[in-house]
Amino acid sequence: MKEFILVTGGAGYIGSHTVQALSGHGYIPIVYDNLSEGHRQAVDGNILVVGDTADAAALNELFSRYNFSAVIHFAASSLVGESVVEPAKYYSNNLAATITLLSAALKFGVKNFIFSSTCATYGCPVYTPIDEKHPQLPINPYGSSKLMVEMLLRDYNKGYGLNYAILRYFNAAGAHPHFPIGESHRRETHLIPLILKTLLKNSDRKLTIFGEDYDTPDGTCIRDYIHVTDLAEAHISAMQKLLSSSGSFAVNLAVGRGCSVKEAVKAAEDVTGLKVPLVHGSRREGDPPVLVADNLLAKELLGFSPKYTDIREIIQTAWNWELNRRF
Ligand code: UFG
Repeated sequence: MKEFILVTGGAGYIGSHTVQALSGHGYIPIVYDNLSEGHRQAVDGNILVVGDTADAAALNELFSRYNFSAVIHFAASSLVGESVVEPAKYYSNNLAATITLLSAALKFGVKNFIFSSTCATYGCPVYTPIDEKHPQLPINPYGSSKLMVEMLLRDYNKGYGLNYAILRYFNAAGAHPHFPIGESHRRETHLIPLILKTLLKNSDRKLTIFGEDYDTPDGTCIRDYIHVTDLAEAHISAMQKLLSSSGSFAVNLAVGRGCSVKEAVKAAEDVTGLKVPLVHGSRREGDPPVLVADNLLAKELLGFSPKYTDIREIIQTAWNWELNRRF
């Protein structure tokens, strides 16, 4: 029998790629999304219920309609800078709404919960690569709101027998190689799409490099970019692990390889054959110099094995999306 999986935020970037992966693995994803950041077109062909995770009545109705095997909870606000100036939005959308969602899930006996967490829960690295034992001392409300949910999940595990998979993403990037979905934020702040947007026909944009005086080999920040379909597949493995009743866990999802801002620019130039117009800017507040993961636990626990290990391959899929994007 096919299993129903609730995917909150399933019309968003990582959510929509995971929805495709779920369908591909024979599950029936039910997308629940308020479309504030997500796109209806991103879930074409799948069931979309438009609604908010803060809406307890709508959630009760949803849980009474479908017999879900698990919840994959993507819906969240995720802009670090915005979280500093609008913290209430982050505690409300990311923490309070998750409590509402969990109450509904537990009321209907749904006990498998996959949670989108982030490397932002670690704060400024005290060592790299960052493993799961690294101290979690977030430096912005976005990271704090995600860490609070992690703490809550541990308590719900003890108190209510909730099984959780906490997935700490590093930098998601790229687009689906086969389906017409990709990264499409209403306010784009991420490096790779911003690099590529400067290269589109008739674009008059330039890429601002936020700081070249970091203590890194080329002076720019280093990140661990993971392809969004590798992330999506890891959700399937994590969910299957929960469904097989083998216990709760928290794990990093990343390639385990660093790429600086300048290396990403160079890779985009290699892929497109075009020159990225640059502006040399100052540091962006709150950017740690290096965020690179130790992904050993994901390999052991989930058999995680990212297909995309070269930043150029990741950027190639993002470029194909930028050239043909539908939303
Ligand atoms: N950058 C630029 N110019 C730009 C945009 C970004 O130089 O126009 C730099 C940033 O300063 C940073 C790197 O490119 O050094 C990557 O920036 P992104 O905004 O693409 O990604 P972040 O590393 O800031 O954000 C990611 C996730 C967040 C998560 C955060 C943790 O997208 O969800 O890591 O710090 F919270």
